[in-house]
Amino acid sequence: MKKAHRLNQVQASLTLAITARAAEMRAEGLDVVSFGAGEPDFITPKPIIDAAKDALDRGMTKYTPVTGMPALRAEIASWYTKNFGVETKSDEVIVGIGGKQVIYNAVMSMVDPGDVVLIPAPYWLSYPAMVHLADGTPVFIPTDQADEFLVSPEKLEDAIQQYHPVLLILNSPCNPTGAAYSAEKLEKIAAVLRKYPDVTILWDNIYAQLVYNGFKHVELAKVAPDLKNRIITTGGFSKSFAMTGWRLGFAIADPARIKIMTTLQSHSTSNAVSFAQAGAIEALRLDPSVVENMRQAFERRRSIILNEIAKFPDLSCLPPNGAFYVMLNCTKFCDIVKNDVAIHNDVELAQYLLEKGMVATVPGTAFGAPGYLRLSFAMKDEDIIKGIQRIGNTLAALK
Ligand SMILES: Cc1ncc(COP(=O)(O)O)c(C=O)c1O
Repeated sequence: MKKAHRLNQVQASLTLAITARAAEMRAEGLDVVSFGAGEPDFITPKPIIDAAKDALDRGMTKYTPVTGMPALRAEIASWYTKNFGVETKSDEVIVGIGGKQVIYNAVMSMVDPGDVVLIPAPYWLSYPAMVHLADGTPVFIPTDQADEFLVSPEKLEDAIQQYHPVLLILNSPCNPTGAAYSAEKLEKIAAVLRKYPDVTILWDNIYAQLVYNGFKHVELAKVAPDLKNRIITTGGFSKSFAMTGWRLGFAIADPARIKIMTTLQSHSTSNAVSFAQAGAIEALRLDPSVVENMRQAFERRRSIILNEIAKFPDLSCLPPNGAFYVMLNCTKFCDIVKNDVAIHNDVELAQYLLEKGMVATVPGTAFGAPGYLRLSFAMKDEDIIKGIQRIGNTLAALK
């Protein structure tokens, strides 16, 4: 069967096999705890749902402009200005079908074959796939738990000098690590970027409203307003408004960049769903307490998962500043061959935990972090406790 060459480097998601097996086990009636979900377990807040229903009743069933409804673009611009302190106008905004699609648009509309895109690792697994689909070359900058999984200015500068990238992708707070850049750290990163004017920065802030323990999220464009026209900020409604199924995201960038992205979008997906956009306007107008209540629920679950992990001396993770994931350090359990057990890496470890411990996790290898397992804590408190106990006990039995 013919397959386009651009797909050669893109593999079906590593996590698929584990998720499929977990679903199969559940269908057999087995009680599997899953830490796999990358989405809030909440239903979208009711006023957002009502606004979309109302839009349908009013006959909002037609195409909208490719860039999104003018009212939504204006709302995003003023919401972003107000919440993040970066002066933004409507013509700097494009609405698309999820954060994923706007990132894909941004990559596709600026990466030529062979162009290098720098991506700190661990990373969200779609970034390198998108760069490959654009025939670009992803180059990873490794970070580890000791660096709080944040790229240092020195490593960044070395990588820029060595690889001459056209694009750098920064994700704060980060999926999968929960790491996030403080204002102080970003200032140092900005000082490096200032020296290399040819590097565009894709700044993915989709988890910006989900930060914990007093951490203050800050935008790169806020600490470095002089870099603003080089930054493509991407975000969306999925995570903080519990709207994953609505498929709505946005990018904020220089109007000239928005025009280029609009041309591409006009020949691929056109506009985001009309009545979903009406719901999004309502989301941005909601009383902030609605998002805050969900954030507090995640903060509580974050404490629960950290407390449970702390009960097992062989387990550790970096306490996340944001998003809803922890990266469980499992390096001690990735090379175990004895009796009837053969575990050589995190993928096999995740399979073992699923079969023997009835708990589904995502292997770190999927995110460029071998030796780790990603656990989402966007789930019920009691399942978090049950799941970590299962992981801890299953691994303790391996020693
Ligand atoms: C880091 C990051 N960026 C972007 C997205 C895209 O989300 P969506 O397409 O649902 O808006 C995700 C979703 O998992 C993510 O984790």
